[in-house]
Amino acid sequence: MDFTEGDLLPNLVGMSSLPAVSYIQERIADFKPQIGLTLGSGFGFFADSHLQADCVIPYADIPGFPVSTVEGHKGQLVFGRVGEKRVVCLQGRFHFYEGYSMAELTLPVRVLAALGVRDLVLTNAAGGIREGMCPGDFMLIRDHINFMGANPLRGPVPEGMGARFPDMTEAWDRKLRALAMESVPGSGLKVHEGVYIAVTGPSFETPAEIQAFARLGADVVGMSTVPECLVARACGLRVLGISCVTNLAAGLSGGLLSHTEVFETAMRVREPFADWLGAVIADIEETA
Ligand code: HPA
Repeated sequence: MDFTEGDLLPNLVGMSSLPAVSYIQERIADFKPQIGLTLGSGFGFFADSHLQADCVIPYADIPGFPVSTVEGHKGQLVFGRVGEKRVVCLQGRFHFYEGYSMAELTLPVRVLAALGVRDLVLTNAAGGIREGMCPGDFMLIRDHINFMGANPLRGPVPEGMGARFPDMTEAWDRKLRALAMESVPGSGLKVHEGVYIAVTGPSFETPAEIQAFARLGADVVGMSTVPECLVARACGLRVLGISCVTNLAAGLSGGLLSHTEVFETAMRVREPFADWLGAVIADIEETA
């Protein structure tokens, strides 16, 4: 059964009244992005290397937008084209561990939906839990476990702000995942498929937590992405998630974990990853 076929876009009229939306619309004029892309730690590079940018808007200029505080996150919206596709990149994302509320950190997803984005690609860095994963491998997210203890959809849902009880059976779009798998280049990238468990961070996990997550069925662990997916599904967007396994999760490598290692692995693979991402985006409409 195809759960996404025939999905109706929920009523999102309330979203177009967000100050951020009108501010951005004035700047991008008649540019209508089809595909949204959140570029996680170290992957902002894609927007510089593969996007023909039409318009760049710093988050700090957008009314109501949070500003990212993590090193390696630029903090701007980049509108442009990848081939024929009209794309908007969130170059820098917001994390729960930075202190934002769930509502604040997912506002950009609502804004992209209001701008007309239909497909959202979420990228992140993650720790590999499943045996056989190596730093520098990738994983297409098939499903997730929300272990953050919070949900961005909690609270009132004013008219036109998306669904109250969105279904999560196929939160991660099967067709987009198949397309992404087909676009993997013949050599250079190893791509798995599996379950992402989201934790709040900012501390890395303990080895005991990682063993527990493995028993729960998690293949990688990370500190982002799930809140954005939840809001995107409430807005009726199709979502593709790609994790870069930047390190083996706590207790699995014999060494200690550090943000430096996460960043260095992301830097090492960012070029082939960006090429793959470009190919995925170029193919998206064909299966839509
Ligand atoms: N744990 C949580 N988040 C992460 C990790 C990790 O090992 N690596 C990159 N992001």
